[in-house]
Amino acid sequence: MKATAKAHTNIALIKYWGKRDESLILPMNNSLSLTLDGFYTTTTVDFQDSLTADQFYLNDRLVEGAEHHRVSAFLDRIRKAAGRPDAFAYVHSTNHVPTAAGFASSASGFAALAAAASRAIGLPDNAQALSILTRQGSGSACRSVYGGFVEWEKGAEADGSDSYAIQIAPADHWDLRVAAVVLSSDEKKVLSREGMKRTVETSTFYSAWVESIPDDLEAIKAGIAEKDFEKVGEIAEANCLRMHATTLAANPPFSYWQSTTLAIMETVRKLRSEGVPAFFTIDAGPNVKVLYTPEHEETIRNTLQDVPGVHDIKVSRPGQGVSYV
Ligand code: PMV
Repeated sequence: MKATAKAHTNIALIKYWGKRDESLILPMNNSLSLTLDGFYTTTTVDFQDSLTADQFYLNDRLVEGAEHHRVSAFLDRIRKAAGRPDAFAYVHSTNHVPTAAGFASSASGFAALAAAASRAIGLPDNAQALSILTRQGSGSACRSVYGGFVEWEKGAEADGSDSYAIQIAPADHWDLRVAAVVLSSDEKKVLSREGMKRTVETSTFYSAWVESIPDDLEAIKAGIAEKDFEKVGEIAEANCLRMHATTLAANPPFSYWQSTTLAIMETVRKLRSEGVPAFFTIDAGPNVKVLYTPEHEETIRNTLQDVPGVHDIKVSRPGQGVSYV
């Protein structure tokens, strides 16, 4: 009863922002992402009869408290699904992602955990069921089950049975680059869970956000099919700005941006004005991801590196979905 799985993070081009059900993690809107090959988590789950509780190690460190509880509560769902309520496990995760700084380590983390645990406990291998299960650990993680361009269908059912990810195009459909510009490894101040809740409950811009999604989705899917970089980049950047605008209209208002975040945004706009097609997107943290095509690799890297406050740049290509090691 042991299995090891690997999963990559993903970057949303159309953001998931707001839940309609907090416990099942059902989103208010569809979202669309690109799985990234540069950041991943490898997790081994080993169910042992001798255990009376789960033991969770992250990067070889025993984890206790809230983080342990989140993993264990997620394994409860898997035990229940497998009809093995008393099966406890050793969980060893290695994260190749800078955690909690706007890099979605929870996405690769929960996708790898769900895949390894499902296989170890003997649940049938089924990507759709895995995506539904993964969603209940962390919403954006349900998209990391698949490689390439992935849409998370919000679904309509109250039980979440139709809220899962589907692949729009595989990783080898389009050779794009995403530079993750690391500004700070500080823990983020407003976690995505809390930020979404406050926004849904109080932001006067929230309904406009939800209403804007269907048009963005239709246009970006056409852009991906046609490999129209300008179109995809423009929609992704505008969608990101609209998501962040909802936080400014929340009560109390908040923002994930720091001064260097704004400096990078300005740099990307300047690159465009000089004829270098590049677009930015930002999740629930200060770091920026810059989207571009391979021929501009050197210009983009050199320009971003020179922005004061930039600590590191990690470049990804489109990545694969969950795999078993
Ligand atoms: O799934 P969570 O709780 O990590 O939320 C992710 C939310 C964003 O990263 C801001 C957007 C997204 O779709 O990934």
